[in-house]
Amino acid sequence: MNRFLLLLFFTTIFSFSYSQTFFSPDKRLSLVFSLTKQGEPEYQLFYENKPVVAPSRLGILLLQQKNFADVFSIANIETTSVDNSWNPVWGEVKTIRNHYNEMKITLKQNYSDDNDIPHERRMILAFRLFNDGLGFRYEFPKQPELGYFIVTDELTQFAMTGAHKTFWIPGDYDSNEYPYNHTALSEINGTALRNASEISTRSTFGRFGVQTPLMMKTNENLYINIFEAALVNYPAMNLVVDTSTFLLSAHLVPDMYGNKAYLQTPFTTPWRTILVSDKAEDILSSKMILNLNEPCTLSDVSWITPQKFIGVWWELHVGKSTWNYADTGNLILAKTDWSKLTPNGKHGATTARVKYYIDFASKHKIDAVLVEGWNIGWEDWFGEWKEEVFDFVTPYPDFNVVELQKYAAEKNVKLIMHHETSASVTNYERRMDSAYRFMKEYGYETVKTGYVGRIIPRGEHHDGQWMVNHYQRVTEKTASYKIMVDMHEPVRPTGLHRTYPNWLANEAARGNEFNAWSIGNAPDHETILPFTRLLGGPMDYTPGIFQTEMSYYKKDKKERVHTTLVKQLALYVTMYSPLQMAADLPENYERFSDAFTFIEDVPVDWDDTKILDAEPGEYISIARKAKNKNEWYLGAVTDEHRRTMRASLSFLSPKQKYTATLYLDAPNAHWEKNPMAYTIKKYLVTGKTTLKLLLAPGGGAAVSIKPATKEEEKLLKNYQ
Ligand code: NOJ
Ligand code: CA
Repeated sequence: MNRFLLLLFFTTIFSFSYSQTFFSPDKRLSLVFSLTKQGEPEYQLFYENKPVVAPSRLGILLLQQKNFADVFSIANIETTSVDNSWNPVWGEVKTIRNHYNEMKITLKQNYSDDNDIPHERRMILAFRLFNDGLGFRYEFPKQPELGYFIVTDELTQFAMTGAHKTFWIPGDYDSNEYPYNHTALSEINGTALRNASEISTRSTFGRFGVQTPLMMKTNENLYINIFEAALVNYPAMNLVVDTSTFLLSAHLVPDMYGNKAYLQTPFTTPWRTILVSDKAEDILSSKMILNLNEPCTLSDVSWITPQKFIGVWWELHVGKSTWNYADTGNLILAKTDWSKLTPNGKHGATTARVKYYIDFASKHKIDAVLVEGWNIGWEDWFGEWKEEVFDFVTPYPDFNVVELQKYAAEKNVKLIMHHETSASVTNYERRMDSAYRFMKEYGYETVKTGYVGRIIPRGEHHDGQWMVNHYQRVTEKTASYKIMVDMHEPVRPTGLHRTYPNWLANEAARGNEFNAWSIGNAPDHETILPFTRLLGGPMDYTPGIFQTEMSYYKKDKKERVHTTLVKQLALYVTMYSPLQMAADLPENYERFSDAFTFIEDVPVDWDDTKILDAEPGEYISIARKAKNKNEWYLGAVTDEHRRTMRASLSFLSPKQKYTATLYLDAPNAHWEKNPMAYTIKKYLVTGKTTLKLLLAPGGGAAVSIKPATKEEEKLLKNYQ
């Protein structure tokens, strides 16, 4: 071949670039997939022909093997359309529609190694376009040239088209318990961070990393959310932000060697997701994350029950009582005679105190009581990276497991067990079976786990592949014992509760507890969480704190809840979870028993949900229909601004009269100056009614709507 022909040959091969457009079922979203001249895969996303994601790279980087990044050609393209529906075991709605177009592109990678030996490998890119967003993932079929492989990072990019308004928390590998920052994409950096003192050093933050879900709003009022679905056997995805070009690049949580994932073919990565809409409400009602998860794997789900609970909990956080029984430090689990320790006189989880909670639960239609600090080990449980702290089967001498089992059963109340692991996960894994057997023996059907501190195996992170696999092992093992689970300090959820419905809830964000002992959660916090953390699944936020000022417990305490009392009620509707705590002390609920009626009434499982109004960082208003009941509950929350919100009740059955009980901020209520002032009003309403709700600064509104009795029809006034 002469030089000219050779040149011609190469230009033909390498100038070949490929491009393919693909649409969502309603055609509003379109995806352009292309291969560059170098055979690099790229994608773009458009919403009504406007770019949402500019050309962005795709690929996976490997350790000591050729990267899946370039010299690809198309081997095959398959498209399918799916439109079906399914019923979750529990949820915000009874039936979920799963409607998308899928394009699966099989890419062939041909290259020669240093010894001129030719190789061929395959990687599949699967794109699913729903009407509300895009999901895509990498698939690695079993193939001769790819068996075991180690991922050093993902090349996945999300090129944003401007300095969008962004709600973000720093890319800490070990915690999501941060207040949200809102800045332009171009201003994501350390100085913008709220509560910078709380940042851990083990994070991407030094490289301006942020966590997902990342919620953004463009100047043209487009809402964009980047996240992931079905995080299995893989680390969580953070994003590194280029503040000048607005390019977001995937950054996976590493292990101590800096590697990201150890994999074997066949393997599929989690879905990378981009929700897009010109309505903020659509982001909250989207079911795309759930639809991208696998169906339920459990054949019998009859034992899984959504529940409301109270617990020996808030009193520990406000310092009224302690988890620990003694005040002695430096104890060795196996070598201590716990019955001989001198009690400190403040232990919370005593048999008598738990009976008091059981009595309250039984009287007020609360399903269960959580008990923390029941088991030995709390004397020096945290902060030391200690392997053996808890054994999960030995109660303190003043906590009588048998007596409480009997007492709770008589009162028809369940007990929830607490397993704080202090992040000594190897210890927990060794003891899980005996711990769950112990639970079953003494009648516990739900466990709350916790991972406070630095992970053992030392060097692993809460959000890395090893821990992601641990949370799944816990979920599968608890399911095999018919135990439901609520995890604190896990990786952020990604919709896996569809696959494992015994995984009722997670914390994985900054919960209400921060208001007990830190500068707390700003009034806008609960207007952001549903747009971020909650997209992956229910949160155990622990709402319902009525006594908002902590000075009530000790004069010099400055900590406080940054909401009104009524906003705490509204959270039972706006923060969806099948597991909801009534987090305050029974004695505080007795003080405000008329307001507590809302918590008694509000369900934890729903047939339907209407997102009435929403704007991240400002307000949210949601109405939900109780499961198998003709009752609706409405919750509205605002940030630090006073607000009037209108709620049309057009979702009610047209011919019926209902009694609406309105729990409202008093006219002079204010989260800081007058948080506990409220009024309760009852009216007759119909589907033609529009409620006008006045929300105090940092306030809310909560409404229960039930068919009116004959008597109520006579006595109550129509809502005007
Ligand atoms: C932090 C959890 O979020 C909280 O709920 C629990 O009480 C403490 N850890 C102790 O386990
Ligand atoms: Ca926590």
